[in-house]
Amino acid sequence: MGSLTHLAIIMDGNGRWAERRSLPRSAGHLEGGKAALKVIRGCLSHGIGYLTLYCFSTENWKRPKEEIDYLMGLFSSRLRAEMPRMVASGIRLLHLGRREGLPEKVLDAIDEAVERTAGCNALTLQLAINYGGLDEIARAASKAVADGIDSFDASTLSGYLDNPDVPSPDFIVRSAGEKRLSGFMLYQSSYAELAFYDRLWPDWDESMIGIILDDFDSRKRRFGGL
Ligand code: IPE
Ligand code: IPE
Ligand code: MG
Repeated sequence: MGSLTHLAIIMDGNGRWAERRSLPRSAGHLEGGKAALKVIRGCLSHGIGYLTLYCFSTENWKRPKEEIDYLMGLFSSRLRAEMPRMVASGIRLLHLGRREGLPEKVLDAIDEAVERTAGCNALTLQLAINYGGLDEIARAASKAVADGIDSFDASTLSGYLDNPDVPSPDFIVRSAGEKRLSGFMLYQSSYAELAFYDRLWPDWDESMIGIILDDFDSRKRRFGGL
């Protein structure tokens, strides 16, 4: 047992949620955004210090343009709309992932939110948008090389990750039943606990945080020791 400082979530199942209701996939993403707000509130009320949400992977560009455009619009409009509430509730926003390739309106909304919430300290919220674990590691290695580093040990790269001051996740959970990481936090996940819940992402709310905390409490982390 130990405390859950950093929870990271692979938000999956928006499409299936919509399909089951004969709705367009965009309706699932819209509802998924609402679920994210509930889960963020749950983390705040349980005193979790860091939450990372996997919003868009470097592989999600393979989806139809219409769906990508909808998601990008949702990211920028929700970020802008939630900014005052983020400041009021003490949420510090960070972006995790590659900036290149993201539309200007998304980068602008992220940059403004990062700037305006820089002094907040109740919860650090990392949004993984245009994120791939291999991409983050490759970019970290490039930054290290550009710094003149030519010899690596197991911890050299950690200082070159996107947000080096964020501790590694204690618990990585995924909605919608798929049992894989899909490239999520490959460097930081080396000793994370993992859990996969069948509930589709749009059906998540604050109550899932209680379930997650109970699940985490039952884990015995050994970190290679006895
Ligand atoms: C997760 O839901 C959201 C993103 C990956 C952007 P999906 O859109 O992957 O939903 P399913 O997996 O098709 O149900
Ligand atoms: C993982 O979900 C990425 C996000 C949650 C943003 P996907 O739906 O893209 O993953 P796969 O394709 O099932 O592995
Ligand atoms: Mg999916």
